[in-house]
Amino acid sequence: APDAKGRRRLLGFQAVTPSTDDAIKVPAGYSAEVLIPWGTPLNSRGPQWKKDASNTAAEQALQIGMNHDGMSFFPLGAGPFGARQGLLVLNHEYVDQVLLFPDGDAQMTKEKVAKSLAAHGVSVVRVAQVDGRWKHVDSKYNRRVTGSTPVTFSGPVGRAHAALQAKNPAMGTLNNCSNGQTPWGTYLACEENWNSYFGTTDTTWKPNAEQARYGVNAAGFGYKWHQADPRFDLAVNPNEINRFGWVVEIDPFAPESTPVKRTALGRIKHEGATVTESRGRIVVYTGDDQDGEYVYKFVGSAPWRRLRALRKSPLDHGTLYVAKFNDDGSGEWLPLAHGTGPLTVENGWKDQADVLLRTRSAADAVGATKLDRPEWVAVQPHTKDVYLTLTNGSGWDNDVNPRKPNPYGHIVRWRERGGDNTALSFEWDIFLLAGDPAYDPTVKLAPEDVFGSPDGLGFDRDGRLWIQTDISNSSQNLASKKYDHIGNNQMLAADTRTGEIRRFLVGPRGCEVTGFAMAPDQRTLFVNIQHPGEATPFWAPNSAPTPQNPNAVSSWPDKDPASRPRSATVVIRKNDGGVIGT
Ligand code: FEO
Ligand code: CA
Ligand code: CA
Ligand code: CA
Repeated sequence: APDAKGRRRLLGFQAVTPSTDDAIKVPAGYSAEVLIPWGTPLNSRGPQWKKDASNTAAEQALQIGMNHDGMSFFPLGAGPFGARQGLLVLNHEYVDQVLLFPDGDAQMTKEKVAKSLAAHGVSVVRVAQVDGRWKHVDSKYNRRVTGSTPVTFSGPVGRAHAALQAKNPAMGTLNNCSNGQTPWGTYLACEENWNSYFGTTDTTWKPNAEQARYGVNAAGFGYKWHQADPRFDLAVNPNEINRFGWVVEIDPFAPESTPVKRTALGRIKHEGATVTESRGRIVVYTGDDQDGEYVYKFVGSAPWRRLRALRKSPLDHGTLYVAKFNDDGSGEWLPLAHGTGPLTVENGWKDQADVLLRTRSAADAVGATKLDRPEWVAVQPHTKDVYLTLTNGSGWDNDVNPRKPNPYGHIVRWRERGGDNTALSFEWDIFLLAGDPAYDPTVKLAPEDVFGSPDGLGFDRDGRLWIQTDISNSSQNLASKKYDHIGNNQMLAADTRTGEIRRFLVGPRGCEVTGFAMAPDQRTLFVNIQHPGEATPFWAPNSAPTPQNPNAVSSWPDKDPASRPRSATVVIRKNDGGVIGT
C-alpha cells in the first residue's frame, strides 16, 4: 500500500534485530547462501583450499583472495539471461597474516610475502543460477589480479614518468577497498591504505614531506614484507611506493588485459570510485578515507562515448576537483589543475603529474574541507543527489562534521547545482547521524534502528539506499565507545524521501559487512562478509573479547573448529523470488 503522501513504499521487509550471534541474519522470507569464501579455487580443477592454511603462494594465486570488499556484477547477456548469469568482480582489501599462514607471521619469508601478495587484489568469477541456485562456475573469464600482476599507468603520470621507475617492473594492486563500475563495462579497484605495506630497517631513512602526508613510515602497519622482499623496502626501492594510491581499471571481459592505473583521478587513499553520468560525461566521486581528509570528484572533459570513439579513455581526460563545504549549506568544487589557483610553477608545482602525485598537498593548498573519514559515495538514480558516508572521526572544524568527536559517523548528501553532477557548486545537508540515542540525544534513530560507522553505501534502481557498517572490533570491545547495544556489523535499507530506516542483515562475529552488487532484476543481492572473527588483528593486539562484547571469535562460515574464519560473498534472495527490500 502507498504511504500517507501517496508514495509507493520502498521498504517492505520485517526488520532484523541486533545480534551478537556468529551467523548471518536476514529478514523472514529471505535466504542467505555462502559463495566463494577465501581459498575457493577459481576453476574446479584448481588447487583445493586447505583448512590449515598450508596452500602455497602459487596455489593462492589460483584461488579467491582474502578479505572480500567492494564488488560489482556484470551481466552476461541481456534481459532475463543477464539476471541469471554474470561476472562477479570483487576486491580483496588486505590480509590477516595470522590466518594466512599455518605458523603466523612472526618470521617472514619471500614465499610468505608472495602468498600475501597473491591473497590481495581482485577476483573475477563467473556466477550463474544452476537449478535456481547461484553457483560459481568454470569460465575463461575467471581470473585473479594480485599484488604481483603486471600493471601499467595512464594519464598525466604516465608509465615513463621518473617517479614510477623502480627496481622491479610495475606490478600489483593493494588494499582495494571500495570500487566502481564504468558505463563501458569495466571495473575500478581503488587503492586505500597502500602506505601500510612499505617499511625499512635502514635507520637513516626518513619520510619526505609527501610521504609523511600519506602516513608512510619505517614500520608500516606491521606486514613486515620489507624484511623478506626488497621491493617493499623504502630505502632500497624508494619509487615503488609511488606506484600505489591510484584507481585501477580492469576489463573483466578481457582476461589477458593489463590493469591500468588511471592517474588523472589522483593519488590518495581511495575508498571507492563511484561513476555517474551527466550531459554525456562521466563524473567519478572518490573519498580519501582518513580522519581529516577530503572528498574528490573527476569530471570528464567531453562525453565519454565521443572520447571512446577517438580511442581515448574517458578516465584520462578530465579535471579533478576537491570539495569545500561552507557552513551555510553551500559548497564548491575546487579544481586541482596545474596553473590554476595556487598550483603554479612559482609555488613549486612542476606540472599536472606533480599535482597528482601530491594530490593531498594540492587539496590542502586550494583550501578543501576536512571530513570525518570519507568512505563510500552513492548517487540517487532519479534525483542524482550524492550521498557520502563519513564513518567516524574527530569532528573537524566545520558544520559538515557536526559532532566532536564523532565515534558513530554520519551520512552527508548534496545536490549539485541544477541536478547536474558536472556542476561546480552544490547544496548540502546531513542525511542522518548514526549512533545510539541512549548515549547521544542528537541521534534521531529509533532504539531498534541503532547502528554505527556507516561505510558501504549503494542505491538500487528503485532508490532504496543500502548502508553497510564497519565498526572496528576495537570499538565494539570497549563499553566506553558506547557500541554495546548495536551488536555485530550490519546492513540497513533507507527510504531517503522519508528518512525511514530498517535493519536488513546482521553479519557474524567480528566481521564487517561490505560490497554491494545486485543482479539487474534486483532479485539477487550479493554482499561481502569481511574479516569474520577478527578478534585480534595484528595491528590491535589488545582487542580481545570482553564482557561487554563477546563477539570476538568466529568459525564462520565453515563452523569447523579445525578450519579458520573466512571472508566470503553471500547471496541473498527472497524466497518468493521478489525484489530485494520489498
Ligand atoms: Fe577500507 Fe575505508 O574502508
Ligand atoms: Ca570501507
Ligand atoms: Ca571502514
Ligand atoms: Ca575493511
